[in-house]
Amino acid sequence: MSKRRVKRSFFQRILGSPATQEPAAANCWNYENGQLFIDLQRAPELQISGGALRLEGGSLPLRILVVNSEDGEYRAYHNRCTHIGHRRLDPVPGTNTVQCCSLNHSTFGCHGETIDGPARRSIQSFPVEKDQEKLIISIASFSGK
Ligand code: FES
Repeated sequence: MSKRRVKRSFFQRILGSPATQEPAAANCWNYENGQLFIDLQRAPELQISGGALRLEGGSLPLRILVVNSEDGEYRAYHNRCTHIGHRRLDPVPGTNTVQCCSLNHSTFGCHGETIDGPARRSIQSFPVEKDQEKLIISIASFSGK
């Protein structure tokens, strides 16, 4: 089976430029007491199957990647590859995996487990609950790795 890769140029990979963008509407999310709330009506990026957003900065204590996986599940990950460069991640189209945006393409399964590449440790995934048009992501379990 051939390995799937997120389509990025050599220079984008050298620079660590992920395909996944920050939300167009900065007010689509807020963070409070270990929970990240996302208003899906303000986040069209997450309304399409395979869509994703990266959330970072502000009051959020760590970078988060949120994916509307192609199997219909919403998933959230610590958006930090465990390999030495600690680059950001992108969902790999046609799979339920996420992949480092660097040249080394470390790839992680839907639960954050390592699948391919030089990263030796899994990435942390976080529970996602959907309540009507809102996602609630609990990052209180963050282990700090
Ligand atoms: S930083 Fe992710 S593979 Fe090197």
